[in-house]
Amino acid sequence: MISRETIQQILNRIDIVDIVGEFVKLKKRGTNYLGLCPFHNEKTPSFTVSPVKEIYKCFGCGRSGNAISFLMEHEKYSYVETLRWLANKYNIEIEETETSPEQRLQQQVSDSLYIINQFAGNYFSDLLFTDDEGKMAGLEYLKERGFREETIKKFGLGYCLEQRDAFAKTALASQYNPDYLIKSGLVLKREEALVDNYRGRVIFPVHNQTGKIIGFGARIIKKNDRAPKYINTPENEIYQKSKILYGTYFARQAIDQNDECLLVEGYTDVVSLHQAGIENVVASGGTSLTQDQLRLIKKYTNRLIILYDGDAAGVKAALRGLDMAIEEGLDVKLVLIPDKEDPDSYVNKVGALAFRNFIRENKKDFILFQLEVSLKEAGEDSTHKAAVVNQLAETISKLNKAEDFTKQQDYIHRCAEILGIGEAGLHTLVNRHIRDKISKEESRKPSRIATIVQQQTEEKGQDNLEDETFQILFQDQLQERALVRVLLSFGPMNWSDGKTVADYIFEEEMDEEMFKNKKVPEILNLYRVQSMSGNYPGISDFAYSDDSEIVKLVIESTNHPYELSHRWYDEDRAHSINREIWKLNYENFRKKVMQSDNSAEEIYSRNSTEQYKEDVEAVLVYLKLKKIKRLMLLNEEDLKKPNSSSEEIKHFQEVHSHLKQMQIELTKKKGTVLYPF
Ligand code: GTP
Ligand code: MN
Repeated sequence: MISRETIQQILNRIDIVDIVGEFVKLKKRGTNYLGLCPFHNEKTPSFTVSPVKEIYKCFGCGRSGNAISFLMEHEKYSYVETLRWLANKYNIEIEETETSPEQRLQQQVSDSLYIINQFAGNYFSDLLFTDDEGKMAGLEYLKERGFREETIKKFGLGYCLEQRDAFAKTALASQYNPDYLIKSGLVLKREEALVDNYRGRVIFPVHNQTGKIIGFGARIIKKNDRAPKYINTPENEIYQKSKILYGTYFARQAIDQNDECLLVEGYTDVVSLHQAGIENVVASGGTSLTQDQLRLIKKYTNRLIILYDGDAAGVKAALRGLDMAIEEGLDVKLVLIPDKEDPDSYVNKVGALAFRNFIRENKKDFILFQLEVSLKEAGEDSTHKAAVVNQLAETISKLNKAEDFTKQQDYIHRCAEILGIGEAGLHTLVNRHIRDKISKEESRKPSRIATIVQQQTEEKGQDNLEDETFQILFQDQLQERALVRVLLSFGPMNWSDGKTVADYIFEEEMDEEMFKNKKVPEILNLYRVQSMSGNYPGISDFAYSDDSEIVKLVIESTNHPYELSHRWYDEDRAHSINREIWKLNYENFRKKVMQSDNSAEEIYSRNSTEQYKEDVEAVLVYLKLKKIKRLMLLNEEDLKKPNSSSEEIKHFQEVHSHLKQMQIELTKKKGTVLYPF
């Protein structure tokens, strides 16, 4: 802890013009100073500093504050880091209070490592430009790859000689502590001697946000299958891989100004993009993103664009960090680099302008991208599709922060559209994931209620959750199938007063618009026409239709294994694809039977006797509800018309409440009927 006296001393010394002036070119205008705002892009200066009030204010972007907040914003320092920076600037000795011996030791090790790294950085970079081997092997290689000298200097790239211990000797001669040299990873201990770790490699220094070297990446030059392509600094007091993003020091201002951060995989990607004028870029080092790294990005911007190879591994790697990034509240976009290129090779191939355009035109929303990829994987398999939807709902549920509420609505809207399902269903699912998460979090605390919630969630089990998901999302599909099923299975049976089930169903007015699957009205029409002659078609009449869509729908709708098994599970009979569908449904049915308390016979016989009337009724209730919903929407549109007379409005309102009443009654009636498939 910095003592209060030191803080006071620092505050006394602060001169805002002096401090801001280190980062912004200021010109005196009257009593104030004026310059180009460092927080946003501008061509005419609107950033003013008032030495009298000791504040700055930008009239362009509105940012304002004092000298300390300037440093915290601009340099992303913490308060303590800011104080240390100021103390250093004004040569104020920092008086620490209550540091433990361990803290002091740790501080000492860190300080030593920084100093060694700085020394090594200079040493390697000198060799690159002045040593024969450095020039011929290292510099030549870097230039070959298209790096210009100014770029190489900016990033402090260097070269380590092939000789066994050139650096170790130099460092020891300069009195550096061997233990710290080993800790830094620059040298290794081999039989009591120190040898260089990065021999014959080009060196990429890794800087922290404030520009101090915390470690190195060393790339091999010669092709060698046995040696790793890169050697990186081992974990130590100042190099913690999971917290580092290569390039932050060089990128931070551009990230700030663009309010956007590009993420790539490698050192060379960062350097090449910089050289191409794209400076808001950092690298993860090829591993999946950690929470610390995401938080580091979040210090600068909420907008992350991930640039990865377009191959399958690249996509997988990119998707891995998604949920975490979303939980951190980042807005994530993805750009896949084509043709087996990486950002480095691609920008060198197409040039800076084309590269920028490519990013602009190929940015994909991450959540939508993930949906696209998994939908492709799922294909037509509806069980798999239900799992995709469930996963999507979980991802969207992670946007559950106050600030992200509209974003969540927006995603639900867009995803429902892509999936062709109702928004309400997806909403319900998302909310359930939110609840599940809350109850899980609650359960970590030892409260009684939470324990009960947790128990229930566990009892419900994953299977059940997926079943429910399926039903919520495919309600329309399920009900449409149910209609086909009851018609084909029970059509000729008695309803009442000499009426058949088919007669009763066709009493209900239906039009094509009502159905998602357009094959349903087609089947209805065919059925109606044929049945008028007293010849009720059966399942088999449709199951052998030459329209494969109809075949599929009928089989999916009428998958009653006890009726169909002898006909369908027969090698020669049906097309193999139909068999696959049948088998799938049979498995589902069997699972249901095993789970339920009733025996298969009971389920079957229940369905084949009086139960059929309930099924028919339920299907018709569903159709009526659908119609009502549509009428309500039309009526609402009428209500919104600007020039209606008050009588018309009254009429519309009456219609509305009438429909509402019917809806309520029917919903009650609908009760428990849900179809398993
Ligand atoms: P170039 O092949 O020189 O263009 O390097 P690159 O940056 O394109 O490397 P690549 O895409 O193969 O890998 C991405 C990042 O993963 C690198 O920048 C390194 O940070 C890391 N990496 C790659 N290979 C190795 C390795 O062999 N060992 C370790 N530790 N890291 C590696
Ligand atoms: Mn590369």
